[in-house]
Amino acid sequence: MGKEYACDNAIKVENFSFKYVKSDRQNQNRLTYKDVLKNINFEVASDERISIIGPNGAGKSTLLLNIAGLMDEYFDAKIKNDSGKIFIYGKQINSKNIYDIRENIGFVFQNPDDQLFSTSVFEDVAFGLINFLAKNKDSRVNDKKYIEDTVNLTLEMVNLKNKQEEIPHFLSYGEKKLAALATALSYDPKILILDEPSSNLDPKNRNNFIRLIKSLRKTMLIATHDMDLAYEFSERCIILNEGKVVYDGKTKDVLKNRSFLVKNGLDLPLAFKNSEIV
Ligand SMILES: Nc1ncnc2c1ncn2[C@@H]1O[C@H](COP(=O)(O)OP(=O)(O)O)[C@@H](O)[C@H]1O
Ligand SMILES: [Mg+2]
Repeated sequence: MGKEYACDNAIKVENFSFKYVKSDRQNQNRLTYKDVLKNINFEVASDERISIIGPNGAGKSTLLLNIAGLMDEYFDAKIKNDSGKIFIYGKQINSKNIYDIRENIGFVFQNPDDQLFSTSVFEDVAFGLINFLAKNKDSRVNDKKYIEDTVNLTLEMVNLKNKQEEIPHFLSYGEKKLAALATALSYDPKILILDEPSSNLDPKNRNNFIRLIKSLRKTMLIATHDMDLAYEFSERCIILNEGKVVYDGKTKDVLKNRSFLVKNGLDLPLAFKNSEIV
């Protein structure tokens, strides 16, 4: 699914800045601002994979949510809290086209419990698919077999075929992550964005999950502070620190540079630490 746009870039972020605005608890008229993203620029080619690396609080999740158009609560806010532009396949995200654009993007939240809310895995995975079919007035929305086949295929992709009738809440954490991924894959978005995909997974589930996402042919962005994951996942990485891009280039080059990493609140990946000890 997803709309076709004639454009080489899947994603383009241009001079983008973002601040959170809060009103004071004592005095509702007094607003406080927190500058989180500061003049971000980068482009992502179609089918490219990029790791967004940075320490806690760097602004990774905020950046991903803005790219996915999931900050729309702010579109109607009286105070403009962003500046610059984000393009998805050449279309600048705005309050009118946001729902169209979202069809191109699957988002996997850090915590799968934020994504699973139905009474069966099947329903959770069918939800996005049905939603977009209905929105596009696609007659397949009434085609039970089409929906069943698509959901089953998606569950097969993430190795959860036998879990479709289970209650998501009672799945293991590793299975929840897979189910959350399936909810984002059911409508076959061109872009897949994952926030901290390896967090809280044990080594076996982590490797399984990473192998799976690496096998998908999609434009992919992940946010992570797992340096080994970034090294494994993508040739290119973008390092964010305090809301600014401090590096955009080859992952393997920067991940060897301990002093640069430490200066930016990060550390060498284990893969390089071990070779240092030897
Ligand atoms: N909803 C919010 N309201 C106010 N401040 C927020 C909100 N979400 C995140 N922040 C702040 O924005 C900064 C960046 O957060 P985040 O994007 O979550 O960073 P990261 O994902 O890199 O850890 C942090 O200082 C965080 O406290
Ligand atoms: Mg985060």
